[in-house]
Amino acid sequence: MKITFADKAPKTNLLVSGVYEDGNFGDVTKALDKTAQGAIKASIDNAEFKGKAEKVLRLPSVSGIDGQLVLVGLGDAKKYSPLILEKIGAKLFAALNALREKKAVIDLSDLPALKHHDTAELIAYIASGSLLRSWRFDKYRTKREKDEIPVLAELVFVTPSAKETQKAFETLAAIAEGNHLTRLVVSEPPNVIYPESMTAHAKELTEHGVKVEVLGEKEMEKLGFGALLGVGQGSIRESQLVVMQWNGGPENQKPIAVVGKGVTFDTGGISIKPSNGMEDMKYDMAGSGVVLGLLKSLALRKAKVNVVGVMGLAENMPSGSAQRPSDIVTSLSGQTIEVLNTDAEGRLVLADALWYTQDKFKPQYMINLATLTGAITVALGYEYAGLFSNNDKLSEMLTKAGEQVGELLWSMPMSKVYDKDINSDAADVKNIGSGRGAGSITAAKFLERFVNKTPWAHLDIAGMAWDKAERPLSGKGATGYGVRLLNAFLKDNFEKH
Ligand code: BES
Ligand code: MN
Ligand code: ZN
Repeated sequence: MKITFADKAPKTNLLVSGVYEDGNFGDVTKALDKTAQGAIKASIDNAEFKGKAEKVLRLPSVSGIDGQLVLVGLGDAKKYSPLILEKIGAKLFAALNALREKKAVIDLSDLPALKHHDTAELIAYIASGSLLRSWRFDKYRTKREKDEIPVLAELVFVTPSAKETQKAFETLAAIAEGNHLTRLVVSEPPNVIYPESMTAHAKELTEHGVKVEVLGEKEMEKLGFGALLGVGQGSIRESQLVVMQWNGGPENQKPIAVVGKGVTFDTGGISIKPSNGMEDMKYDMAGSGVVLGLLKSLALRKAKVNVVGVMGLAENMPSGSAQRPSDIVTSLSGQTIEVLNTDAEGRLVLADALWYTQDKFKPQYMINLATLTGAITVALGYEYAGLFSNNDKLSEMLTKAGEQVGELLWSMPMSKVYDKDINSDAADVKNIGSGRGAGSITAAKFLERFVNKTPWAHLDIAGMAWDKAERPLSGKGATGYGVRLLNAFLKDNFEKH
């Protein structure tokens, strides 16, 4: 999707103008004669369209306008926030896309400014919403009817200052590109995305200035990654640990570490999952997909912060070489783990990835993302990710960042009363609770044993990484949940120096 900004509206077949809830409408239409304006007003008052935010109305023939006029509802300007504007932009993209034009000119130059944002910046948010929504995963659809292939390829936003808008947009576009990369790797099938192909994606970031280091199975064996390697041992794909570093901050700034679960396919292993719905487990690498997308966005926007991104990558397969329920493995931390269910594999991968990260990089904060438990969707559905943390300040920073971008987090209990549920009779810890509920909490309590007092937060994104229903900014499928959240978290708390 090409998005540009202009100080004046160029000639176009498709002109878009804004309408507010109070019935006022935009600059473009003000230039028309009284009859045309009256006709537009009647259309606005009619039907469902009352200028409500996110609604779109198409007027194919208005005298004084060459092509089609599309009115976009801009709602109540008093209620604007960057997020509301991004949603307007996303809806606008979806509506324009349905009109089957190649290009549209969107004149919103009369948008009123907000307290902390001028009009240029607000238009950048609308453009960002359009860009986020424009991504789609259709590379394998080779045989579509011509009229099924989407054509909208260019948006021109008319703004009071094209230069300023462009500047504000560049940061948002970098974040959107990170989000798109995450959605790509999450959407790709597991015969395309496996540990080594994730590594290859990470290596592509070196051209943007990201430092990338990879541990293969041999190196991990030497270092003692017994928990992670156990998960991948039934697969013909080699497990990987990928470390990506973006050092855009001051030299003396301790890094913020972000660690992702990257189970590129989770069959459950010998504790095999039922076949119904197993296909969903292609997105069990979404946590690591977010880490990848985050690092890309940081590099593209040259973020002034030091971040270490770690992906723990393995494929969980049943086979003659797979680990068995009741195996005992020795983790990198030295703690022994009784593997009572090979389907509780994400925590095993993270146990070693988290220990390695805190030990090697001594981060000021460590955050992990994981599609860790089905139980989190029982608790929170598909609206909030679960937030588990040993640090209230970190929880608060993350929750606020999430609210800002519409990637919501709900704090879950981490009380020590849950600890006994994962004590093992045979080893230091077991990888499942006793089955008396609280499955997401016992999983988080398991991870906590591998963070060694580092201020840490675990985001259980099992309900958020993918949506079978439409989401405002991402439509159906992979959401990229986490990339925008972590960008906001880093921008607000660590990049202001
Ligand atoms: N990858 C799954 C969790 C999951 C479920 C992610 C649904 C996305 C959507 C995880 O590895 C898993 O299998 N968890 C088990 C844990 C159980 C064996 C203790 C679960 O949730 O049932
Ligand atoms: Mn599993
Ligand atoms: Zn899993």
